[in-house]
Formats: sequence, C-alpha cells, structure tokens
Amino acid sequence: MEKLSERLDRPIVLVGLMGAGKSTVGRRLARRLGLPFVDSDSAIEDASGFSAAEVFERYGERDFRDGERRLVARLIDGTVGVIATGGGAFIDPRTRELLNSRAITVWLDAPVDVLSERTARRDTRPLLRTADPKATLERLAQERRDSYAEAHIRVKSSRGGHNDVVERIIAAVEQHLDS
Ligand code: S3P
Repeated sequence: MEKLSERLDRPIVLVGLMGAGKSTVGRRLARRLGLPFVDSDSAIEDASGFSAAEVFERYGERDFRDGERRLVARLIDGTVGVIATGGGAFIDPRTRELLNSRAITVWLDAPVDVLSERTARRDTRPLLRTADPKATLERLAQERRDSYAEAHIRVKSSRGGHNDVVERIIAAVEQHLDS
C-alpha cells in the first residue's frame, strides 16, 4: 500500500449522496494508506465555529455552496491525502471542475434504501428534515446522478462492509493511475 501513497501526487476525494459512507470510508482509506484525512463538513465547522448544518440553515444553500467551494479549493491545494466532501459539493459545476482537474474523484454510490437507512440514524442533515426523507433522497439521487457520474471512479458502497469498499477504492485508484 505504501506504493500507492508514494505514487499519489494529488488527493483522493470522495463524493456522493448523504449516507454513502464518505466520512467513514474516507477515514479508513486514509488510515490504510498512511495519509491524512480531512472531512469538508468538519473543516467548515473548524473555520466558522458552526456545524455545516448550522451554516446551511443560517445562511442558506447558496452561501453555503460558495463557502464550501472556497474551502474545498483550499483543501485540495495543501493535501495529498483523502478528502470526504459534503454530498452537494460535487454538484456545484465549479467545484466539480476544480476537483476533477486537481484530484482523483471517487463516487461512492449506494441505493436509496441504504442511504435512507443510514441517514435516518441521525437528524443532522437540513436537506432531509422533510415530511418524507426517503422521497427527498430519491429525488436528490435522480437530480444529482449525472453530476456524480462525472467522477473519475465509481465504487458501489452498498456491497460488503466498509473495509471491502476501501479495498475496492484502492484497486480502482491504482487502475486509474495505470491508465
Ligand atoms: C449536503 C450534504 C451534507 C452537508 C449539507 C448538504 C448535500 O454532507 O454538506 O447538509 O447537499 O448533500 P454529508 O453528505 O456529509 O451528509
């Protein structure tokens, strides 16, 4: 594995819907590669003193996305490591372009059933505070699919456990670097 971390000259960035496992898988992937891990939602909290959810609710989605774009730009500049982004970051065309040109992007793709079950465990997502969170996820999955599909790599994150997903990401990144 040391080999892959030595070959990397840019960060690995995980994208995908809420509940896809970006933070959990990202942390494990980083540990496995011996690289630093950054979660963009946590970085927003460090920078602003408010949780990503609070920033989202206080300032609205547009300002949140602007701040998120600036933050992601800063993160990819300084890190050869693993970055987990908030689910909407890659939907912003400018953030997407930036990430695809300066990082290796990995779409963690999971079925809505799985996303719904995982996100129901915690009430921390403003976008899912709706009458029918599963239907909201269904809609977001449809709306965002084409954007996520622009990531360099797609890995299904419903199959197997998190460690299995980590191994499949490593294999896919190695293949991407070879191609
Ligand atoms: C969002 C996802 C959240 C957070 C914010 C908006 C989205 O991050 O950034 O609530 O638009 O999908 P997670 O994907 O880590 O839950």
